[in-house]
Amino acid sequence: MKAVSIQTFGDPSGMAVIDVPDPSPGPGQVLVQTVAIGVGGVDAVVRRGTLGGYGFTEGHIPGSEVAGRVIAVGDDVDAAWIGRRVWAFTGVGGAYAELAVARIADVTALPDALSSIDAVTLGSAGPVAHFALAHARFTAGDSLLIRGAAGSIGILAVQLAGSGPIAVTTSSPSRGERLRKLGATVVLDRDGNGVGPAEYDVVLDIVGGPGLPSFVDRLADNGRLVSVGVVGGYPPADFGMAFLRSFQRSRSFATFSLNTVPEETRNQVRASIFADPPEAVVHDVLPLAEAAGAHRRMDAGEVFGRIVLTTGAN
Ligand SMILES: NC(=O)c1ccc[n+]([C@@H]2O[C@H](COP(=O)([O-])OP(=O)(O)OC[C@H]3O[C@@H](n4cnc5c(N)ncnc54)[C@H](OP(=O)(O)O)[C@@H]3O)[C@@H](O)[C@H]2O)c1
Repeated sequence: MKAVSIQTFGDPSGMAVIDVPDPSPGPGQVLVQTVAIGVGGVDAVVRRGTLGGYGFTEGHIPGSEVAGRVIAVGDDVDAAWIGRRVWAFTGVGGAYAELAVARIADVTALPDALSSIDAVTLGSAGPVAHFALAHARFTAGDSLLIRGAAGSIGILAVQLAGSGPIAVTTSSPSRGERLRKLGATVVLDRDGNGVGPAEYDVVLDIVGGPGLPSFVDRLADNGRLVSVGVVGGYPPADFGMAFLRSFQRSRSFATFSLNTVPEETRNQVRASIFADPPEAVVHDVLPLAEAAGAHRRMDAGEVFGRIVLTTGAN
């Protein structure tokens, strides 16, 4: 099969289309002929090599979510899956390819009405947004600030949060306008400046980085800041002081990872998102062979929503 692999970590020019042997599904796994492949922010982090210490080596096939058709199953998997259209999480890698294996526990059947392109735009980011809001004990009527809202997770959080006051940070007024059309009511710049409430009940933070402590100062009494991603790098090591200095405000901090949500619960939420989908914001659709170009566009910060790769299969 054709796959895209990272031959050299660093710049996108280190990615190449290669021929590799077809994978076969092991026990508890399925083999998916991929139609669409989601390109996520974490794929760029892996490609840059900053996760090198986690054991990725040159030749690694990046990507973690695909949609397509099951063409084979391993031992212990019901053969009735063969021929079904599915969304699948492949783990941290293995998705930028014409064929991908996934554990059956990480597979969700696709309704006919949902395209493969939309499935890989919603399938991972939707549950992350849903459970991150729940982890923050967000309820209707709470004021919400989503930091880094123009990515796939933030866009879903804006849509899933309902009709209350929803502030977003973004890098340009035009991106802010697009977020308003999706449900944001307040648009702030990346530093949190703009016309809007001074404080929020919940801050959903996808950015991290040096700016995080100033957003602790934007929490209301009993406010909750949940860290969902670190696209701007890790915050300063002493960021916890921002909480301690305002001890009497009973603010709190938590990280959130989808890994801690039981598989069955996450799969149920994904299936309900697929059955009644919010808007899937697809920035562009490119052939699999243009994966490096997709990464260049991510690195340039021009992507709003998701870039999706396609293989030509259907
Ligand atoms: N918690 C989980 O279970 C989970 C699951 C999957 C992924 N993740 C994490 O989520 C993150 C990726 O999420 P995503 O794909 O939605 O994000 P993304 O598209 O990579 O970034 C979100 C937005 O953040 C803004 N941004 C980027 N760099 C910034 C910086 N240095 N300072 C301020 N703003 C910046 C950009 O928007 P503007 O240009 O408009 O500001 C960008 O569109 C990764 O950290 C990944 O590891 C977490």
